Amino acid sequence: MRRDPLAHLSAELDDLRQQGLFRSLRVLKSEQAARAVIDGRSVVNLSSNNYLGLTTHPTLRARAEEAIRRYGVGSGSVRPIAGTMELHMELERRLAAFKNTEAVVVFQSGFTANAATVSSILTQDDVVVSDELNHASIIDGCRLSRAEIKVFPHRDAEAARATVRALPARQRKLIISDGVFSMDGDLGALPGLCEVAEEFECIMMVDDAHASGVFGRNGRGTIDHFRLHGRVDVQVGTLSKAIGALGGYVAGSRALIDYLQHRARPFLFSTSHPPSVAATCLAAIDVLESEPELIGRLWDNARFFKSGLQKLGFNTGASESPITPVIVGEAPAAMRLSDRLFQEGVFAQGIGFPTVPHGKARVRTIVTAAHTLADLQFALDAFARVGRELGIIQ
Ligand SMILES: Cc1ncc(COP(=O)(O)O)c(C=O)c1O
Repeated sequence: MRRDPLAHLSAELDDLRQQGLFRSLRVLKSEQAARAVIDGRSVVNLSSNNYLGLTTHPTLRARAEEAIRRYGVGSGSVRPIAGTMELHMELERRLAAFKNTEAVVVFQSGFTANAATVSSILTQDDVVVSDELNHASIIDGCRLSRAEIKVFPHRDAEAARATVRALPARQRKLIISDGVFSMDGDLGALPGLCEVAEEFECIMMVDDAHASGVFGRNGRGTIDHFRLHGRVDVQVGTLSKAIGALGGYVAGSRALIDYLQHRARPFLFSTSHPPSVAATCLAAIDVLESEPELIGRLWDNARFFKSGLQKLGFNTGASESPITPVIVGEAPAAMRLSDRLFQEGVFAQGIGFPTVPHGKARVRTIVTAAHTLADLQFALDAFARVGRELGIIQ
């Protein structure tokens, strides 16, 4: 009999099971909402990136339905052949105006936006100077570019400066950081990194996936939050989190966007968004502009929940955003906390190595504008009970 050529995969899965890292997918039977039915249980949902509750916003729903009726369900082609619909062009124009940049190109996801951009604007002769906690899509983009990768300690702009200073002056350099770090909820050292980029003539790039719709005026992101307009050459945003739909985009100069349209491989070789997705994202920009109170509510909820966890004695790390980690140590402890919370009616996903370093496993919580204070108090009460039961807090 033929030996299973994939046997090594089963061995690795057994290894994950032994470390307590094997997870089954949790399945939603309801909408993606603040209270959701997941694996048959009604829970307060603290695990989505649906910051503003837009996944179920009536305006977005109506515009998606209208687009389906008018344009059908698919685009039928990649962008450079026949897959550029007027909705795609309108979305890019609106995003460019929103971000106050010359132009924007939309990708199928934030992941592809990062990976495609880094890999296409650099070559093997160049260097990337990257925060150690940058998102996987940035890391993959760096690897695909074949540029040399220099990692600096998390949020340490001075270390980035020392790294850049030691490189040959004529070598092209890209400094890159997340705007908001997805596992810790802290902000990139953007003002300091911009100074380094200017001093040494580097390209400056920021991945604002978790800041889009959350930070800055009407959710314009961390560049707006830190007032760094004109100092970041490449801004990546996502349409999959606060915007409530799917996609990613790059905002920057006309030349950058034209270049990506000719060289970024997911743009060239993967089908564009269905028209309903583009229409949904357009509606979301309208909502960001017309309902800023949603962002206010998000931040009120984030402050209430974060301070509640801290008062209970949980270690919430250095979070400055609606992402609040509850750091407990090794992965099995985080998974136990997550599982017990779920039994108590709260969904907060456990996260361990390699997504976060050994010893820093956590349950990650994200509140949204759609949670009520009653939802959040219910979750805090569950955290208090389970945290005491598991000996995480007194
Ligand atoms: C920091 C960061 N960048 C990029 C992405 C990818 O965005 P998308 O979900 O739109 O692919 C994520 C998503 O998890 C993220 O956390």
